[in-house]
Amino acid sequence: MTKNKSVAKPQDLPRRLALDVLLRFEKAGLEKLKADSQLQQAFGPHPQLTDQERGFCRALVMGTFRRWLVYDEWIKQLTGRPLKNVVPLVRCLLRLGLLQLEGGVQVPDYAAIDSVVQLAKGMKQSPNTIRFLNGVLRSAQRRLGDAGFECPPLTADLPGHCQARFGWPTSFTEPLSAVYNAGQIEAMAQAAQHPAALSIRVNTLQTSVAAYQQALEAGQIAFELLTDLPEGLLLPEFSGSPRQLPGYEAGWFYVQDAASMWVSRLLNPQSGQQVLDLCAAPGSKTTHMAALMGNQGAILAVEPKESRIQLLNENLQRLGVTCVMVQQGDGLHLDLANPPQFDAVLVDAPCSGSGTLRRHPEMLLQWKRVDLGALNETQLALLKQGFSALKPGGRLVYSTCSILPQENSQLVQRFLAETPNAELEQESQRLIDTKTDGFYAARFLKK
Ligand SMILES: C[S@@+](CC[C@H](N)C(=O)[O-])C[C@H]1O[C@@H](n2cnc3c(N)ncnc32)[C@H](O)[C@@H]1O
Repeated sequence: MTKNKSVAKPQDLPRRLALDVLLRFEKAGLEKLKADSQLQQAFGPHPQLTDQERGFCRALVMGTFRRWLVYDEWIKQLTGRPLKNVVPLVRCLLRLGLLQLEGGVQVPDYAAIDSVVQLAKGMKQSPNTIRFLNGVLRSAQRRLGDAGFECPPLTADLPGHCQARFGWPTSFTEPLSAVYNAGQIEAMAQAAQHPAALSIRVNTLQTSVAAYQQALEAGQIAFELLTDLPEGLLLPEFSGSPRQLPGYEAGWFYVQDAASMWVSRLLNPQSGQQVLDLCAAPGSKTTHMAALMGNQGAILAVEPKESRIQLLNENLQRLGVTCVMVQQGDGLHLDLANPPQFDAVLVDAPCSGSGTLRRHPEMLLQWKRVDLGALNETQLALLKQGFSALKPGGRLVYSTCSILPQENSQLVQRFLAETPNAELEQESQRLIDTKTDGFYAARFLKK
């Protein structure tokens, strides 16, 4: 990690809130919680926080999740103690200190250590604990400036290397190493060490790509074009809230990863068609498809969860989408017309989300809890249900934001074996890289 200490800004409320969020994960046994929603809850009682302070707190939390398992190893090496002999509060304080010392957020070393000491004092820790924290972090500072920490070599122990160097649990890397080579896995793990830059899709229902690019230029906001995505833009230097970008309220753009944009483009729905979006919320792909269709035709957007339906409706409204009918329900038990009526079907299935580690690094700690077997059953059933709603000659895209073949190519092979009238036209497995999430998409024709 490179350090640039010129933008030092120690801030205590953001650090304190970051510590609270990390402790909530410790208490919950590192399960179930979502970092984004925990951060929103932590910010709730503090409306005075500036965007910069929120960003700093978020960088502390997300950076710590990315490096959690790395720091656990360092803490063992620095203290000579098993991790369970260091209490959760002290572990979290050390992780925050190590992240700052390592350059995961830009602060000088003295502020990295002093801020942890101040937090510990604020939490009424004993002088012994404060001396311990100070001592461990000072040794870490020396180690980082000197020989560094021990790490198994990549060639001898790929999973051990990925855990000690990148914080990827061995239980995550092991199944990947059955299908990807060491170079591919290392490149993904390296890319996932950094937060994803903001990428947006220009909403062509409300503005044009050229007009939006001009608005960004006028605001001196740098952007790059996204490969094969005419309406996609990456904003590599933008670190504020998307609401600060031109035209948020007016629905000129939607925040969306390139991986997600490719999926709707692969289905390529046409104006006037009848489209089924079987797993729709929050509507990234629904709204993209509506834009590709010029709001002409009809999309039935199905989603079982009420809270997510609300997000979907908000997005439809903000983006000026009028060709979508939302239906709250289970995609597995839809009352579908017979004969089937849809020209195009999207099954963007619930999945492990393993391709989105850059955005949801807490997943690294929760990985053991993912039940791929149960997910596979739902995925296959949704795919079959979606296919049954398709007219002969129609096309279906099955997609996930996962890099695991078990949810992707292997599942598709199961489906093909059981569905003689399905023809696989195209299949794409993208790995996590520095610009996009990992994802999978397969397009079928109904014969
Ligand atoms: C990957 S997300 C979809 C993302 C969405 N297509 C987009 O691009 O914004 C999967 C969605 O499937 C929903 N889901 C889960 N089980 C479902 C089921 N049985 N039927 C339909 N949707 C389901 C989840 O609630 C979740 O919103």
